Amino acid sequence: MADRSVHYTVMTLFPEMIEAGLHTSILGKAEENGILRIDTVNIRDYTENKHKRVDDYPYGGGAGMVMQAEPIWHTYEACFGEMLARGERPRLIYLSPQGRVFDQKMADELSKEDELVFLCGHYEGVDERVLEMIVTDTVSIGDYVLTGGELPAMVMIDAIARLIPGVLGNEASWAEDESFRGDLLEYPQYSRPEEFMGRKVPEVLLSGHHARIEEWRREQSVIRTAKMRPDLLEKAELSEKERNLAKKYLQ
Ligand code: ADE
Repeated sequence: MADRSVHYTVMTLFPEMIEAGLHTSILGKAEENGILRIDTVNIRDYTENKHKRVDDYPYGGGAGMVMQAEPIWHTYEACFGEMLARGERPRLIYLSPQGRVFDQKMADELSKEDELVFLCGHYEGVDERVLEMIVTDTVSIGDYVLTGGELPAMVMIDAIARLIPGVLGNEASWAEDESFRGDLLEYPQYSRPEEFMGRKVPEVLLSGHHARIEEWRREQSVIRTAKMRPDLLEKAELSEKERNLAKKYLQ
């Protein structure tokens, strides 16, 4: 049994999208192992009108439709009524291009939470009143506009859940090495064969000399970050020698 069990709830009009995307592969395995549970709830199931309407025209006019407060509130109450009665409320993330931009640091922070709720909006927006009542965090996955919050919720859940101990299986790989740890990009990786269409694996990686390999990888991370994401270098902790190396590769 897992040491810790994490529960995510996704409130959406398109639960099949979330289910198709997240119950497979690595996260599907984590669910089987009892580390993670992802529930989807269909907001449309909580409408009180016979046409199961969830949206209406915006007051004041304008293009598009607005998701109504009522079905969202009823979904929230149905899922978290007991918790609310105890005077607690869940951490609820509303996906919106107006939110704080998601990054690795936010993923790290959210991976410590055992209970998270994601609210996926659609149409032109969501009635502000219900947002005021239930949202604790508004998050964007980047400065572009998507048709709904489902893909952003899936992106966030994937990035957060892989940080939960046991989800990736291999404890060493989640803790170390990957891009953005220490604010540097990951070094280039190679596997067999030693030569592919005339291109050789860098000699040092075949040397078996661990200290030299580590040093080469660190240099490659610095060079790659300078070339591809120089903005990350400002925050990175670099030695004097590494700063000079980075400088050579800045455009
Ligand atoms: N909904 C629509 N676009 C979005 C974005 N970029 N991030 C989060 N939610 C969104």
